[in-house]
Amino acid sequence: MQSYAVEMQGITKRFKGNVANNQVDFRLIKGSIHGLLGENGAGKTTLMNILFGLYQPEEGQIKINGSAVVLNNPTQAMNLGIGMVHQHFMLVRPMTVVENMMLGLPSQRGPLLDKAKVEASLRELSGKYNLKVDPKAKIRQLSVGEQQRVEILSVLYRGAEILILDEPTAVLTPQESTELFKILKLMRDDGKSIILITHKLEEILEIADEVTVLRDGCRVGGEPITPATTKSDLTNLMVGREIVCNFAEKPPCTGKTRLVVDQLMLKDEHKLPVLNGINFSIREGEIVGLAGVDGNGQKELCEVLTGLKPSSSGKILLDGQELIGKKPSGFIKEGIAHIPEDRHKTGLAMGFDIATNLIIKEYHSPRFSFRGLLNFKAIQDNAKRLLEEYKIKASGQEAKAKDLSGGNQQKIILAREITSSPRVIIANQPTRGLDIGATMYVREKLMEQRAQGVSILLISADLEEILQISDRIAVIYEGQIKGIMDNKNVSIEEIGMMMAGVESGEKAAC
Ligand SMILES: Nc1ncnc2c1ncn2[C@@H]1O[C@H](COP(=O)(O)OP(=O)(O)OP(=O)(O)O)[C@@H](O)[C@H]1O
Ligand SMILES: [Mg+2]
Repeated sequence: MQSYAVEMQGITKRFKGNVANNQVDFRLIKGSIHGLLGENGAGKTTLMNILFGLYQPEEGQIKINGSAVVLNNPTQAMNLGIGMVHQHFMLVRPMTVVENMMLGLPSQRGPLLDKAKVEASLRELSGKYNLKVDPKAKIRQLSVGEQQRVEILSVLYRGAEILILDEPTAVLTPQESTELFKILKLMRDDGKSIILITHKLEEILEIADEVTVLRDGCRVGGEPITPATTKSDLTNLMVGREIVCNFAEKPPCTGKTRLVVDQLMLKDEHKLPVLNGINFSIREGEIVGLAGVDGNGQKELCEVLTGLKPSSSGKILLDGQELIGKKPSGFIKEGIAHIPEDRHKTGLAMGFDIATNLIIKEYHSPRFSFRGLLNFKAIQDNAKRLLEEYKIKASGQEAKAKDLSGGNQQKIILAREITSSPRVIIANQPTRGLDIGATMYVREKLMEQRAQGVSILLISADLEEILQISDRIAVIYEGQIKGIMDNKNVSIEEIGMMMAGVESGEKAAC
């Protein structure tokens, strides 16, 4: 007989009348990896938050290792061996790895002795599962991938036998994701039971033993993953139809040069160059894709191109006009829209409602205010229209940004930036965390903007995305553009080599 680590039965959870989970059944076989799939807002995070004791369901039962339990808070869940790594990390940035792991744990022998003990166990755990991380490093010095390892290590340190990972690969580079999957397999072989939420179907096919699919809060299917399972089987279950995406052959871009970036330099706090003489231009109605391994200056380039950080030297010319020296509000006024990588820090005002978030950059414009007074009707109408157009799932436009699902938060930013009639869009990971349908919709929207003459810089960790919609592809490496190629005559191998720092035309050393 199968033995189950988790059995959830008839789980219903409502938020102010909005049903996030509706009579959901979910079972996790001991020692297996279980994929949890569903469109944005389907109820995946909510179901897992219930299993982790963060929310209490209105209806339903939960059994852990065969025994019925009531989970009133995460401490109770952790005591039963359940651990969760959230969609948005919960680490304290100025503290070290060890200090973070000790947070919330009762001190038995005084903090100093505890620290040595925790550090020793941390080293043992990282050795066992190949989770490399420096215990003394401060969180803010770590890459996103390393921070995730810290989250996983603290969950393991607290004795988790059941691990919930909410979209862990959304923030990882492809190389880091491969590493994470090796680690998950090691854990499974060690008898741990793992739940993996993801929008990337190939990940489910690669690693999951079973899958459960949610749609609109209901469980619509679930099955073992076999070698015969295909991506379209999973899409069908998830969306109820196949997603076909045929981007029509786009006409060549003939617009005049709009944005010129010339010898742009930026130095970090240690006076080391993060942007080291960046040169490129974008025409009217052109999409330039920027490929590169995360951490090679992409984030900083976006910050300088949107006025969030002053450059050390160089020029940014928009239709011939210098932008350097302007404030972020000046960049917005000139028509530079920005889809930021980190929606929590720079994208949204989490405590504000959807309608406000949708106009937050334009509240002074005549569209939404008159003589300093806000036009509430216009603001509400705008929200209503965009909620519908972008299929943003929420209880209403008065819902707060913080109460939306991860993907729906991203859609708010996209809707706001794309409809601000920009001249340039700086899009950093625009489809991160979006389900397949929404991803295709956003790519189509970017193409629509292109057709209307908008110049777009598309930064993406997804090479497929870059190849699908860019006119030209630039590769960034250590703060420099290593080459810009026409999308028509470029190969993935060539881009890959440049991403690794090999100049265009050079041969990789054997
Ligand atoms: N704290 C909350 N208050 C009000 N509504 C909420 C809250 N948390 C979630 N919801 C709503 O419940 C629904 C399901 O959200 P959930 O976060 O579980 O979706 P998800 O499947 O994880 O989506 P995504 O793929 O976008 O992360 C959404 O409509 C969301 O707005
Ligand atoms: Mg979620």
